[in-house]
Amino acid sequence: MPRMTATDTVRAELARAAGRPGGLAVLTGAGMSAESGIPTFRDAMSGLWSRFDPAQLASEEGFRADPARVWQWYAERRQGVLDAQPNAGHRALADFQQRHPGVMTLITQNVDDLHQRAGATGVLRLHGDILQDRWIDPCPRAQRGNCCDTGWALDTQPPVCAECGNQVRPDVVWFGESLPLGMLTAAEQAVDGCALLLVVGTSGAVWPAAGLAHRARRAGATVAIVNPQPSEIDDVAHHHIRGTAAEVLPVLLAA
Ligand code: OAD
Repeated sequence: MPRMTATDTVRAELARAAGRPGGLAVLTGAGMSAESGIPTFRDAMSGLWSRFDPAQLASEEGFRADPARVWQWYAERRQGVLDAQPNAGHRALADFQQRHPGVMTLITQNVDDLHQRAGATGVLRLHGDILQDRWIDPCPRAQRGNCCDTGWALDTQPPVCAECGNQVRPDVVWFGESLPLGMLTAAEQAVDGCALLLVVGTSGAVWPAAGLAHRARRAGATVAIVNPQPSEIDDVAHHHIRGTAAEVLPVLLAA
């Protein structure tokens, strides 16, 4: 008899999970969008953090030290996201969600919008949205219910408020900042209730996102990882599929 591969085993788990509401949770990381041409953070040669210093480019202190540099770096990354297209992995997840309404919760650490552009809905975005702006400081008019619109800011690098000089920053979560509370709580509920957690394209190096895999396992879910390389949360998983998101997900999630 031919041996079951990890993909066969996870497909069988998936069929069971698809039988009940909330049965499947999926946690994605930068590897999910790698085949769309968006660089990851920690891959040895191509990862952003092998070439750039996260303390300078992904922290409030870094922004305040050199706002123009940080703004320009994000402007280039934004353009990369706008130029990218969802890959076969994004499309496979969105198709599965549409075929099985109410079964899958999609949780992402990615700040791009490729899951949404592939057609996924209700995506829990743990690390924000690189295409959105917000003020670096609380708007002084907010208490009067009259917050200045970042879209009105002067077209400088970064844009600044003509009224008070507040600076615009990208609406992403930087190191040392809290995750959007509602998103994290919803993600925790999803992994607490799922039968299968599929972890795709993350190194598992960043918490609390990585903690979702531990949490799912403690709650009794099966945890399966899709990644061509080992990750820091491999020991949490029951199954490891060594392949890329765009290769593996269409096979795994096929009707
Ligand atoms: P990392 O760059 O840390 O990890 C990317 C993972 O994707 C690695 O484990 C790769 O082996 C894997 N990978 C590469 N290509 C792949 C492919 N085609 N298919 C599947 N997997 C592939 O990215 P994250 O784990 O997402 O934070 O990083 C977590 C957070 O750290 C990010 O959200 C970001 C960063 O600082 C914020 O933006 C707040």
